[in-house]
Amino acid sequence: MNEREPRLHLLFDAATIARRTEELAEAIAQRLPPEFTLVVLLKGAFVFAADLVRALDRRGLRPRIEFLHVSSYGLGTESSGAVKVVGTTPEAIAGREVLLVDDIQDTGRTLAHTTELLLREGARRVWTCTLLDKPARRTVDIVPDFVGFEIPDVFVVGYGIDWAERFRHLPWIGWIEREGT
Ligand code: IMP
Ligand code: MG
Repeated sequence: MNEREPRLHLLFDAATIARRTEELAEAIAQRLPPEFTLVVLLKGAFVFAADLVRALDRRGLRPRIEFLHVSSYGLGTESSGAVKVVGTTPEAIAGREVLLVDDIQDTGRTLAHTTELLLREGARRVWTCTLLDKPARRTVDIVPDFVGFEIPDVFVVGYGIDWAERFRHLPWIGWIEREGT
């Protein structure tokens, strides 16, 4: 390991994430209608969404699944502020209930921006689900409908979430010890 290699510390193991995902699916099944579109925010939410849709299936929910590619971080650990959105599917959104699935809320800008975009495309209602939430970092007024875990202001990776495109493949979630922290 070279000196610049970040130190990773376990935050949530795979079993803990799996248990919480089942609870989220239960909460979603109680509030969403049987017909809805689940929109996965790429890339970070891909692992969470894959587990969540199977947990929803176990409860009889079979949403249409769509993907949106949104990015705000570039290659750093500080949000660049600008949010880029690629790839929407209008007929899957217009007139439908939509569940937006994201990996982690930081400033909340991505979720707020994407919610607005889906409403502009005619979504009847946009529900929001995030695996992780850092409420201390919020700069826009948005509260997700479904939150897996609230976490402190640490930089996390794994289970789909990256640091400069690394660590998405980890089955667990860890936090990165950055230089000077
Ligand atoms: P926001 O728009 O500032 O809320 O940023 C949300 C997005 O930033 C998330 O969907 C992640 O892609 C990324 N992000 C925020 N916090 C972290 C983190 O701790 N690790 C990795 N990516 C993060
Ligand atoms: Mg993301």
